[in-house]
Amino acid sequence: MGTGRSPIQLLFRLLLLFSGFLYQETIKLGSCNGNLDVGCIEFERQALLEFKEGLKDPSDRLSSWVGKDCCRWRGVSCSNTTKHVVKLDLHNSNYSDHYYSSNKSSLAISGEINPSLLDLKHLNYLDLSNNDFGRIRIPEFIGSFKKLRYLNLSYALFGAEIPPHLGNLSSLRYLDLTTVFSFDFDLYVNNLQWLSGLSNLEQLKLGGVNLSRVVDWLQDVNMLPSLLELHLPFCGLQNTSLSLPVVNFTSLMVLDLSENYFNSSIPHWMFDISSLTYLDLRENTLQGRIPDAFTNMISLEYLDFSYTYYTQGVIPRTLGNLCNLQKLHLSGSHITGGISEFLNGLSECTNSSLELLDFSSNELSGNLPESLGHLINLRYLDLSGNSFWGSIPASIGSLWSLKELDLRYNGMNGTIPKSMGQLSELIRLDLSENQWEGVISEDHFANLTRLESLRLYFTSPTKSLVMDVRSEWIPPFRLKYIEMRNFQLGPTFPAWLQTQKKLTILVLNNVGISDIMPDWFWKLSLQIESVDLSNNQIRGPIPHNIHEMMPSVVYHLQGPV
Ligand SMILES: *[C@@H]1O[C@H](CO)[C@@H](O)[C@H](O)[C@H]1NC(C)=O
Ligand SMILES: *[C@@H]1O[C@H](CO)[C@@H](O)[C@H](O)[C@H]1NC(C)=O
Ligand SMILES: *[C@@H]1O[C@H](CO)[C@@H](O)[C@H](O)[C@H]1NC(C)=O
Ligand SMILES: *[C@@H]1O[C@H](CO)[C@@H](O)[C@H](O)[C@H]1NC(C)=O
Ligand SMILES: *[C@@H]1O[C@H](CO)[C@@H](O)[C@H](O)[C@H]1NC(C)=O
Ligand SMILES: *[C@@H]1O[C@H](CO)[C@@H](O)[C@H](O)[C@H]1NC(C)=O
Ligand SMILES: *[C@@H]1O[C@H](CO)[C@@H](O)[C@H](O)[C@H]1NC(C)=O
Ligand SMILES: *[C@@H]1O[C@H](CO)[C@@H](O)[C@H](O)[C@H]1NC(C)=O
Ligand SMILES: *[C@@H]1O[C@H](CO)[C@@H](O)[C@H](O)[C@H]1NC(C)=O
Ligand SMILES: *[C@@H]1O[C@H](CO)[C@@H](O)[C@H](O)[C@H]1NC(C)=O
Ligand SMILES: *[C@@H]1O[C@H](CO)[C@@H](O)[C@H](O)[C@H]1NC(C)=O
Ligand SMILES: *[C@@H]1O[C@H](CO)[C@@H](O)[C@H](O)[C@H]1NC(C)=O
Repeated sequence: MGTGRSPIQLLFRLLLLFSGFLYQETIKLGSCNGNLDVGCIEFERQALLEFKEGLKDPSDRLSSWVGKDCCRWRGVSCSNTTKHVVKLDLHNSNYSDHYYSSNKSSLAISGEINPSLLDLKHLNYLDLSNNDFGRIRIPEFIGSFKKLRYLNLSYALFGAEIPPHLGNLSSLRYLDLTTVFSFDFDLYVNNLQWLSGLSNLEQLKLGGVNLSRVVDWLQDVNMLPSLLELHLPFCGLQNTSLSLPVVNFTSLMVLDLSENYFNSSIPHWMFDISSLTYLDLRENTLQGRIPDAFTNMISLEYLDFSYTYYTQGVIPRTLGNLCNLQKLHLSGSHITGGISEFLNGLSECTNSSLELLDFSSNELSGNLPESLGHLINLRYLDLSGNSFWGSIPASIGSLWSLKELDLRYNGMNGTIPKSMGQLSELIRLDLSENQWEGVISEDHFANLTRLESLRLYFTSPTKSLVMDVRSEWIPPFRLKYIEMRNFQLGPTFPAWLQTQKKLTILVLNNVGISDIMPDWFWKLSLQIESVDLSNNQIRGPIPHNIHEMMPSVVYHLQGPV
């Protein structure tokens, strides 16, 4: 392809040059001349220019909108055969920090949308997302693009009522009207009955749109048998019903009803949709137990039930049968009981896919079972804020992908196994606020080469935990964050700190150090932001030029110095 030109191709191109002046005629005759590279259709070009007139384009994103061939204009695509404009993509890809707020980056287009656009009768793709239309209403005439398959007006700051005219877009597959999640921004609908006109719809995204006036939104959505993705987060649905006798969208893969603060019991209909891969019910005030009804949800990869404050009961047994599960968020509720049955279930999968497990801030208790070690793809494990007790199972060393381990605020009263030292991917480790016993040795850190954050603090002094390493120990890690309080680390000043050249925060408070402050400490690092060595017995002078050595240090060095 593209190597050399045959004489026939050259001749063809010459003919094209001369055919330019025939172009208008050709159109009037209405004949479509195959693949002739003759630019765009004139009245469509005029329509685009009129549309451009109505827009404010401070950063000149439409500067290429000049000349005859509108098919070459930025954001405009024509059919290769008919030359009709089929696609208009003016989405603003400069996702500034204000993406989710009503402050837009300077690359946003604003202004009004001229109805001249309707002359683009063959348009099947329209994307105006992430621009700034200053809370004007979505024009009713957008409902007249009969061929539209893709409509994306997300984060474009349209306001007021979404016109039901969109229900005339019978070819539509994708409808994205997601808007800013804000209480002082109102893009709303009075009813959703018009959805029934969109019988081919596959993706419906209305995040942030105020649906609180809709009497039976679920019944309206149920008229969409082709639906694959339904995203309705932050839609103000708290006073609406979640009951649905018969499910019509049996191919649904993605269901996001997060942040709606539903005041209802956990609906059962979604547990029968065997195609679901993604279920997000985060931040709803759902009541009652999570049903033990996951048997049909064999495709589930993502489940988020966190912060459903009134959810009680135990972890459903059938959750352990979901071998495709990759992320499980079940934090911030009132879940009780143990996790053994769940983990034993998962360990029977030939291959557990679980990467993230977050059971934090519940009322779970019991031992952590050895079967934890079967979750070899686990990267993130958060069991903090529960009542687990006993030891960390030695099998933890098998979790070779683990990056974060958080067990703080539990009743762990056993030992920390040396196998923890095998977790060579670990970045963040927090074992604070437990009743650990035993000795933490160099072995516990043997291969923690990536560790950046180490937290081991206790509100009340613990005598049962001791950290014991040689003074010549060279740790494999370069920590940024150390917080250790109220256990035995001393009496000598930890010489291994000398190797920690990336420290920004250092807290060694009441860790039994009774020693002379070594000289090297003052030269440790210029990056250090905060040092707290209080409640130890550290002696020796503080250099008077300390502020030059550690410029921004906020330090507490109380006790006899
Ligand atoms: C037109 O053809 C080009 C090159 O083959 C292709 O990349 C482009 O997607 C086609 N455009 C449309 C609208 O089909
Ligand atoms: C996007 O916007 C930011 C500031 O809002 C600017 O610094 C950056 O250069 C912009 N990126 C592009 C590709 O224009
Ligand atoms: C939006 O921009 C205005 C003016 O620049 C500023 O005062 C305001 O704090 C910004 N709001 C947000 C949410 O960033
Ligand atoms: C719509 O546009 C936004 C922002 O440009 C993008 O993130 C989103 O994925 C698009 N929606 C669909 C359904 O493609
Ligand atoms: C489009 O929808 C609106 C409101 O649902 C309706 O009044 C109008 O007649 C429809 N127009 C066409 C051309 O179907
Ligand atoms: C949504 O609309 C209802 C009814 O008009 C109103 O009470 C509520 O404040 C609106 N919610 C938001 C988040 O704008
Ligand atoms: C299912 O969808 C079809 C077609 O959209 C509709 O006619 C029917 O009433 C729906 N059934 C239920 C139970 O909602
Ligand atoms: C839900 O109902 C309560 C009590 O009737 C009312 O105060 C609140 O505004 C309603 N919320 C919405 C979003 O309609
Ligand atoms: C939730 O619903 C119950 C009854 O179903 C009612 O007593 C309670 O006031 C509701 N709570 C809120 C915040 O609307
Ligand atoms: C096991 O899981 C990994 C990661 O999830 C995946 O790449 C691999 O293909 C799976 N193997 C089998 C036999 O399912
Ligand atoms: C650890 O705590 C559990 C639960 O409180 C208790 O049953 C057990 O005896 C404790 N074990 C030790 C060694 O203290
Ligand atoms: C540390 O890692 C090395 C290389 O990956 C391995 O040979 C060694 O056995 C590991 N040591 C421990 C204690 O896990």
